[in-house]
Amino acid sequence: MKHSTVILNDGHQIPQFGLGVYQIEGDEETKKVCLSALKLGYRHIDTAHAYQNERGVGAAIKESGVARGDIWLTSKLWPSDYGTGITANAIDKMLARLDTPYIDLLLLHQQIGKYMEAYKEMEKAVAAGKVKSIGLSNFESTRLEEVLEAATIKPSVLQVECHPYYQQNELKKRLAPYNTKIESWYPLGHGDSSLLNEPIFTTLAQKYNKTNAQIILRWHMQEGIIVFPRASEPAHIQENINIFDFTLTENEMNEIRKLDKNYRYYNLTLKEQETHLAKFTPAD
Ligand SMILES: NC(=O)c1ccc[n+]([C@@H]2O[C@H](COP(=O)([O-])OP(=O)(O)OC[C@H]3O[C@@H](n4cnc5c(N)ncnc54)[C@H](OP(=O)(O)O)[C@@H]3O)[C@@H](O)[C@H]2O)c1
Repeated sequence: MKHSTVILNDGHQIPQFGLGVYQIEGDEETKKVCLSALKLGYRHIDTAHAYQNERGVGAAIKESGVARGDIWLTSKLWPSDYGTGITANAIDKMLARLDTPYIDLLLLHQQIGKYMEAYKEMEKAVAAGKVKSIGLSNFESTRLEEVLEAATIKPSVLQVECHPYYQQNELKKRLAPYNTKIESWYPLGHGDSSLLNEPIFTTLAQKYNKTNAQIILRWHMQEGIIVFPRASEPAHIQENINIFDFTLTENEMNEIRKLDKNYRYYNLTLKEQETHLAKFTPAD
């Protein structure tokens, strides 16, 4: 399987394509899905403490027989674990759940709570060899610049909602000075049939003998975005990684860029994030 990689601002190379495991329920199911993905050649898995399935991811990596160093593993800290001392302890617990000596990429999942203290603790975890790269998720308010400016290790990625209806062009400009890369969440619009069935994707799918989802994923790749669709259906897991044998033309990329309509599926104000997200505390 041919893989393309993206070089991060800290020099690490991340496989540009992977598997997301949000809403894959329970460790057994997660292990099953990850094992089948690893068998098919996936080498990048995106999980989070909040998904409550890190043990399943870790078990799959162990059982797969694939060398740990050949797999890119991302997880995320939830705000209930932000704070001096608290975050360091949370990272150790995460390493135990994932059953791994290190995490390739650790993100702050949300832009609320004691995020500056947590970021500093992540920097210390890099120095301690527990984490290789660090970054952010869902920081789109001015808190993004606050962290970017204060950070000793600049965030290597920012994981945000990004798909053809919401292409994040403004955010890309804000990140450019730091060479922080965008990772897409909801890359397939969380399975939204309106997005998947856009006529441009159907036309291109026919041309390249691919599916509409494969065209969307190929678009993300050619935009230079890091992407890890969630798939639990075996056919989807297989289909999504089969996007390395064709290239969209620049005209076709431009046609897809025209779908941008500033439409996001998940839209909470910062105040709403502070009230809603703070209510949740993931179990250890
Ligand atoms: N940082 C954050 O706050 C955040 C938020 C959301 C997501 N994420 C990350 O981003 C990943 C992807 O986002 P997501 O899972 O929410 O949405 P997504 O990848 O855009 O969409 C997942 C949905 O698309 C379906 N699907 C997958 N492949 C398909 C295909 N080839 N054809 C048709 N349908 C297909 C899946 O169905 P099946 O499962 O039935 O195969 C599932 O219902 C997550 O798993 C997670 O790792 C991060």
